Amino acid sequence: MKEIKKQRILTGDRPTGKLHIGHYFGSLQNRVKLQDEYETFILVADLQALTDNFSNPEKVAQNIYETTLDNLAAGLNPEKCTFVVQSMVPELAELTMFYSNLVTVSRLQRNPTIKTEIGQKKELFGSEGESVTYGFLGYPISQAADITAFEAEAVPVGEDQLPLIEQTKEIVRKFNSLFKEVLIEPEAVISEHKRIKGLDGNAKMGKSLGNSIYLSDNEETIRLKIKGAITDTNKIHKNDPANPEICMVGYYHKLFNKDNLETVYSECRKGERGCVSCKKELADNIILYLKPIQERRKYYEERPELVKKILIEGTKKARLITKNTVKKVKEAMKINYFDE
Ligand code: TRP
Repeated sequence: MKEIKKQRILTGDRPTGKLHIGHYFGSLQNRVKLQDEYETFILVADLQALTDNFSNPEKVAQNIYETTLDNLAAGLNPEKCTFVVQSMVPELAELTMFYSNLVTVSRLQRNPTIKTEIGQKKELFGSEGESVTYGFLGYPISQAADITAFEAEAVPVGEDQLPLIEQTKEIVRKFNSLFKEVLIEPEAVISEHKRIKGLDGNAKMGKSLGNSIYLSDNEETIRLKIKGAITDTNKIHKNDPANPEICMVGYYHKLFNKDNLETVYSECRKGERGCVSCKKELADNIILYLKPIQERRKYYEERPELVKKILIEGTKKARLITKNTVKKVKEAMKINYFDE
């Protein structure tokens, strides 16, 4: 029987902190599903993290391990997928250099993801946010290098990443029409849950926003966080009717307590459900949900040598592919002056 070649996917995370349930529902869960169907590469995008954290490389370095653990904990199987450390693959930097000549500065400034992130920086740091570096502005080019270097056909990401995939497609088309059809145009694969709201009701759960439930949070932390979640402020007494649609506890019940959702919502609306017990029920469910994830995390935490090996072997395997892509790119541009 002829073996059908699996399509390849590449996706990744910036190693800047532990991953939270927003990451889980927004992308990790989707990756776990896809790993059976696709040849999967997971990039630990430390170069991209550095565009935002250049004065703090230790933070990025430490989180390479944490991010890998979170992915393994979520259920990505190292037998099925390949983990790659971005900065250990120099071809990615090489391609970034070439592609940077295919993208205008104004196009980068108009990229909606970049625009939002610059806006957030301004909010956080005031006028300092104005000092956007060349490296930061250019990270969509580096992401295009990642995707094309691996010849990825599909890129599973959250919705906020769509403009980056669009930018990659533009680069691919430009390169291919200018030189030769060597680069593969990728498609984004968006997961079912788009964006998960924060405990404070913010539209986005974010590492830097302090409103997250981490995959590795222990029982006590989860209970404490849920206790502090924003609820319907009109509800004062235990038996006041309330609107679960404007309550973060109600919102997370949708994710973690699907089977009992109707009861939760109708009891809340009728004033038959106190917030204390409602929060307890939610926390119990979250703890239960995260249990297998945390057990897998523990397994790998106890085996740091294994995690290291997964990264080293994966990166080695990756370079066989990325070197070949650079070779093709140089040939297409006729700048393959001599073999190394
Ligand atoms: N931009 C992604 C994030 O912020 C990380 C990333 C880097 C990535 N390179 C990638 C995602 C390539 C998909 C494909 O999480």
